[in-house]
Amino acid sequence: MKIAVIPGDGIGKEVMQEALKVLDCLMQHDNTLQIESTVFPWSSDYYMEHGCMMPKDALEILKKYDAILFGAIGDVRVPDDITVWELIMPIRKQFQQYVNFRPIKSLPNIASPLTSTKEVDFVIFRENAEGEYSNSGGQLYQNQPQEMAIQNTIMTRRGIEKITEAACNYALKYGKKKITSATKSNAVIHTMKFWDEHVKRTVSQTNLQLESYYIDALVAYFVERPHDFEVVVASNLFGDILSDLGAAIVGGLGLSPSANLNPENEFPSMFEPVHGSAPDIAGHGIANPIAQIWSLALLLGHIGRPDAEQLVMTAIEEVLIKGDVRTADIGGNSTTTEMGAAICNIIASMQIAQTGGV
Ligand code: NAI
Ligand code: MG
Repeated sequence: MKIAVIPGDGIGKEVMQEALKVLDCLMQHDNTLQIESTVFPWSSDYYMEHGCMMPKDALEILKKYDAILFGAIGDVRVPDDITVWELIMPIRKQFQQYVNFRPIKSLPNIASPLTSTKEVDFVIFRENAEGEYSNSGGQLYQNQPQEMAIQNTIMTRRGIEKITEAACNYALKYGKKKITSATKSNAVIHTMKFWDEHVKRTVSQTNLQLESYYIDALVAYFVERPHDFEVVVASNLFGDILSDLGAAIVGGLGLSPSANLNPENEFPSMFEPVHGSAPDIAGHGIANPIAQIWSLALLLGHIGRPDAEQLVMTAIEEVLIKGDVRTADIGGNSTTTEMGAAICNIIASMQIAQTGGV
């Protein structure tokens, strides 16, 4: 197996180092796991040097890999729309990674800002290739009193069907009963009514139950009763916002992974933390690497090693249960490197226990 690694900017680079150490550690003790990783320097530094976030043939290069592990991008020297639209968006869109899969799960020993102590465990299927995040639109009459901007939302029947089918397939595979759809068809009467119609028809072809909530009510329900959700399906914008909120209610962005999936496997899928480059803490070595390491775990599951995924998840949970190593975002003062090392140590000890020593 070959994976492409793009650490990116800011804390992306710091947390990626720890994820790569975890991968090394897994391979050291398990010779059936052979993954060759190639690191690409595509980032804002690259932009400052070359005038583009990645080379013209970047997608051709990436296509040859089995999966992509991505850190985060964003740097004050480069406008955010450039970093996003020249790096992340082309990969997500051209590689038809139309599913953005985001688990929202309580972890042991992590306090939620909510008062409810009930465990939260649901997933968000965010449409990732069309919707509100389109480059269709433009501005006219700039710097004149009548200046204007138009931003078009693109929703296609097949796009809505595909994300809903992916959500339903997951629900059926994991014994879930219910799909929750995020909408706003009372106000956004063209695209969101279209969304409702095709979500409803797609779910009706299964025996799953569908509940549909207006996004403004749904954000309130996320806070009031997050334990009620199983599988949430949402458009690109709504899914983006819901997943940061979801991350916050289970302990914060430092713990939240995501997978940009091309379910047909025509193109590589990409795994990345939900968080960005966190310029406020970048360079201090205090970022929590768990979101990145969990993203690596999702990658391992995707490329056919659910055993390695489970091992990493158990190690993350063990470290949190022990509680002596905690980064600042979860109430401690450990460094990024200390957290990475603690996870590696647990993995090594579990592997040695399994194999009886090497
Ligand atoms: P952000 O996710 O970078 O940071 C939000 C807050 O969460 C900050 O206070 C940060 O310190 C904290 N945080 C994030 N990750 C953390 C971690 N692993 N450990 C501890 N604390 C963590 O979002 P923000 O500030 O809105 O954006 C910063 C830059 O990141 C911008 O340039 C933005 O465009 C970019 N961005 C990139 C994304 C990506 O690469 N996929 C996603 C989101 C934002
Ligand atoms: Mg986001």
